[in-house]
Formats: sequence, C-alpha cells, structure tokens
Amino acid sequence: MILAALAALALPAHAAPPSERVQRGEQVLRAGGCAACHTDPDRPDQFLAGGRALETPFGTFYAPNITPDPRHGIGGWRLEDLDRALRHGLAPDGGAYYPVFPYTTYTRMSDEDLAALKAYLDTVPPVARPNRPHRLPWWLAWRGVARLWQWLYFEPGRHRPDPKHDARWNRGAYLVEALAHCAECHSPRTRLGAVDPRLRYAGTAQGPEGKPTPNITPDRETGIGRWSVADLADYLETGMDPGGDFAGGLMAEVIDQGTSHLPAEDREAIATYILSLSPIRHRVKSPKRSSQDEFD
Ligand code: HEC
Ligand code: HEC
Repeated sequence: MILAALAALALPAHAAPPSERVQRGEQVLRAGGCAACHTDPDRPDQFLAGGRALETPFGTFYAPNITPDPRHGIGGWRLEDLDRALRHGLAPDGGAYYPVFPYTTYTRMSDEDLAALKAYLDTVPPVARPNRPHRLPWWLAWRGVARLWQWLYFEPGRHRPDPKHDARWNRGAYLVEALAHCAECHSPRTRLGAVDPRLRYAGTAQGPEGKPTPNITPDRETGIGRWSVADLADYLETGMDPGGDFAGGLMAEVIDQGTSHLPAEDREAIATYILSLSPIRHRVKSPKRSSQDEFD
C-alpha cells in the first residue's frame, strides 16, 4: 500500500500504468460526455479545465474546471464530494447546482462507476485555469432557485436493471439513462427547463444552443425507425449516418469526445436500447448542416 503510494508520487500521474479502475473511469467520463462540456473547444490542450460557454434560454453558463488543480479545479475533493455533485446536484458548501449540469441523469450512476470516475479524474493533469462566473439574469443568479427547481423536478436515485430484458439491453439502458444523457438534448423542455416526459427522445426545434435536435425514437416517418442497430452503432463510432451524411454541431462532439472512445459492445448496447423505445410521431425541422461544423 505505502510502497504503491510512494511509487505513484515518484512518477508523473500520466506516466503511471493505468489500473483497470482508472481505465473504467475514463470510459465513464467518455460515456457521460463530461469531456465535451468541461473542455474549452478553443483550448483542447486544457483538458477538463472548463470555460466552455453553454447558451440556454435562461442565460450563459460556463462549465467549471474539474482537473485536480487544488485552487481552480476539484483537487481537494473526496469521493463523497463528487458523489454529492454528480448524484445529488449539491456543491461541497451545500449550494444547489443548476440542472444545465446533467446530474438529473448522473444520479443513476452506479457506486462502482462513480469510484472509477474519481480514480480517473485524479490522474488528469491539473490545469490552473480560473472559473468564469455564469452570466444569468438577477433572479437566477441566486442558487436558491436551483434548489427550488430540484425540489420540483429532481429525484435522486440509482438505475435499476429490468429483468424482463437481456444483459445487452440493460447495459444500453444504463449507459443511456445514467451516463450518456441522450434525452437531455433530444427532448423538448417545459418552460421551467424540465424534460417533457411525453416527448422524451422525440426531438425538439429548440435544443441546446437554440438549435434543433432530431427525433431519435424508432418512428419510421419522423424518427430513426429505418435505422438498424448496426447503423446506429456505426453512427456513434464514426459520425456517418446511413445516408452517408456526417453528424454536425453538438452531436459531432458527443461522438468525437464521447461515444467513439467506447468499446464496440457499449455502442451496440446503446443502439439496442434506443431502437427498443416506443416510437413517437413528432416531426422536427431537420437541423441545418454546414460543412463548417461537420464531424472530422
Ligand atoms: C451539458 C454540459 C455538462 C456535462 C455533460 C457535464 N457537466 Fe459538469 N458541470 C457543468 C456546468 C455548467 C457546471 C456548473 C453548474 C453550476 O454552477 O451550478 C458543472 C459542474 C460540475 C462539477 C462541480 C464543480 C465545482 O467546482 O463545483 C463537477 C465536479 C462536474 N461538473 C463534473 C462533471 C462530470 C464528472 C461529468 C460527466 C459525468 C460532467 N460534469 C458532465 C456542465 C456539464
Ligand atoms: C449535447 C446534445 C446531444 C446529446 C447529449 C446527444 N445528442 Fe444526438 N444529436 C444532437 C444534435 C444537435 C443532432 C443533430 C446533428 C446534426 O446536425 O447533424 C443529433 C443527432 C443525432 C442522431 C441523428 C438522427 C438523424 O435523424 O439524423 C442520432 C441517431 C443521435 N443524435 C443519437 C444520439 C444518442 C443515441 C445519444 C446518446 C448516446 C445522443 N444522440 C446524445 C445532440 C445531442
């Protein structure tokens, strides 16, 4: 134990051989899409050091630094602190986080994945980049509003497997509902910013950054009912859809920073689960593609 700790101190963190737990933690981070939000797209070298602007109808949020920097990041955090943030939406000082940080999904994360994620985050190089305050209207700047929102819409609790389905489906359900938060982008929201349960996964004209996100339920006319499991698994790896077009905008980031790094079985599991959802007929204007923001 002590020898291992000394050995770890002697080596720069990134040179230490990654343990299985650290590797699993990196996959949790990739599946959870943490890297896309917590890395400034203009500073990919400052991995997880925050600063990325998230435009919402309520104001602009800036994702914080989650590298182990002791001053600007989360270097001093214990596992319990990460648990409170990710699964309960609470800061170490007890303040409530805004739901733009998708803890409404991460609350379903398993204990093992949470511990693995912590082990991985501890190995990321620290970056001394200060956080930027959010730009919000006065009534929202008070965190009591986030607490009120939680009281109305947030129910913490772990994911439960469904014994009626096989292991692959259940793995997909877990990845999607506890980590990948596909529904947070692919569903319309109510005026108070909660996912509309009737149109979960059915797409919205007003997705993140005010742009449309397509219907990903298996409806044949308005959703992805004509895609096979292999089509969807390939799309999550390469960004190419069955028609030969490439994912653009935020989906390109989800794939590039997230799902393309997962084991192939996990992408197949996600695809299996998504294509088993109940089809919902809901037409969304198809997102404009420009060659500028295509996946590369
Ligand atoms: C959609 C963008 C988004 C995603 C995805 C996301 N976060 Fe965040 N995260 C944020 C924002 C914005 C905040 C700040 C919330 C606030 O100030 O209330 C935040 C806050 C945090 C905090 C609190 C930091 C602090 O200094 O208080 C931690 C820790 C964190 N995120 C870790 C993660 C991890 C780990 C993941 C992946 C499992 C993740 N986040 C995914 C946007 C995101
Ligand atoms: C950060 C927001 C965001 C998240 C999270 C997200 N998506 Fe997307 N998704 C988008 C956007 C935006 C598009 C439109 C992409 C484009 O313009 O090419 C899209 C497109 C798609 C498409 C193409 C549909 C079509 O008809 O062309 C599929 C399939 C898809 N997403 C599946 C998923 C799955 C599965 C997940 C979870 C693993 C997911 N998405 C998570 C934003 C998101």
